[in-house]
Amino acid sequence: MRLALSAGVGGVHQGAWRRPDSRTEDWGTPELIISLARETEAARFDAFFLSDVSSPNRALTRVQAPYLYFEPLLAAVAIARATSRIGVIATASTTFHEPYNLARQVATLDHLSGGRAGWNAVTSSIGEQNFGRRPWPDHAGRYERAAEFIDVVEQLWDSWEQDALVHDRASGVFADIDKIHTIDHEGPHFAVAGPLNVRRTPQGRPVIVQAGSSPAGRDLAARHANMVFTAQQDLAEAQEFYRDLKARAASYGRPGTDIAILPGVSPIIGDSAADAKAIQESLLDLVDEATATARLADQLGGIDLTGIGFNEPIPLERLPAAADVERRRSRFQIFADLARNERWTVRRLVGLEVASYGHWRLVGTAEQVADELERWFLAGGADGFIVMPPYQDALTRFFARVVPILQDRGVFRREYTGRTLRDHLGVTYPQNRWAS
Ligand SMILES: Cc1cc2nc3c(=O)[nH]c(=O)nc-3n(C[C@H](O)[C@H](O)[C@H](O)COP(=O)(O)O)c2cc1C
Repeated sequence: MRLALSAGVGGVHQGAWRRPDSRTEDWGTPELIISLARETEAARFDAFFLSDVSSPNRALTRVQAPYLYFEPLLAAVAIARATSRIGVIATASTTFHEPYNLARQVATLDHLSGGRAGWNAVTSSIGEQNFGRRPWPDHAGRYERAAEFIDVVEQLWDSWEQDALVHDRASGVFADIDKIHTIDHEGPHFAVAGPLNVRRTPQGRPVIVQAGSSPAGRDLAARHANMVFTAQQDLAEAQEFYRDLKARAASYGRPGTDIAILPGVSPIIGDSAADAKAIQESLLDLVDEATATARLADQLGGIDLTGIGFNEPIPLERLPAAADVERRRSRFQIFADLARNERWTVRRLVGLEVASYGHWRLVGTAEQVADELERWFLAGGADGFIVMPPYQDALTRFFARVVPILQDRGVFRREYTGRTLRDHLGVTYPQNRWAS
């Protein structure tokens, strides 16, 4: 077993844009994203992951870099055409899309990339202000819609059997129409007749990735996903998540090997442990306190942090119950647990939010970082990782310093052996539900 690695580049992290090596001027240009994807492919990663929110930060400020995201499916096409082996995963929300269009777009990406497409199905926790005519569903409602959405998408991807096209010039038979299926779906959220107008894709079905770690999110992943993106703070939690998700998958008749679980990791790699710590501190120095505190308040379910000193813990009565948090519930849980159980100060919590917005932080030498990744992998905490650089150059350092160590230890590939994202992840090709 080898670990799976994906690069997760989404936006510019708070404060880090001020570093001299940030390439901040290039954010939001095709050159940067394509050069990063090529670098990631040269490091033999499984996938390049385009996370997404569909709108800029809620409150734009003079000091904070706004989320600048290309529309991920379009960006994924450009990346796919500029690379040849790496998987390309695009985030698209089940709350803001329609399943027919999305199924068609991702199927198209799978064809255009030669079987390297992945779709990160998210329910979204922000962005509703740009889709204002529809009511914004609550957490449970978003997951109900997501479940039906993904079910429709999978049916559409199956609507063409592999050998539906006959092309028999002599007899004049173009297609075996018994192998092209309508879906005639009628559900609470969607009415979709089908079939798709895109033939079956190289992967049969493109890889579904799921991000959202509450029980409802886990259940959705267990039923449909081949890859799960999660935020985990320590090994014990990661192992619990890992066991739970694989058990849920088993309850749907799916082998655990069919779902790769990848926690996000935000690495800071120094020449020495002290150097890495110094980089970490310097990132915190670049942050605007007021903006950072507002973001922390948001992660904590929108609570009021006024009157609490930067070096004080948060009074427990200010923390809401998880069930009352309608946006990122599982992320709220991470920050609330640290505030409640570990009594972290505002400053420490802000440090986590700034560096990795709640993802696992790894700060040390390349050896130390490689050791920790390997430890989680061997201890059943992860099948791999989504490497999310806290600043631009951190990714390049990871490629140059950590990847060779993992390769020398035999836990990461030196060369691609497969052609598709499913091959890279080692997950099975789905059987078409109509195939006999
Ligand atoms: C690791 C992780 C990554 C996520 N990435 C995105 C993203 O790129 N875009 C997005 O709109 N939502 C993203 N989400 C949010 C989920 O779609 C979901 O709206 C939110 O997490 C609430 O679900 P949960 O309580 O099950 O985590 C992510 C969630 C997690 C846990």
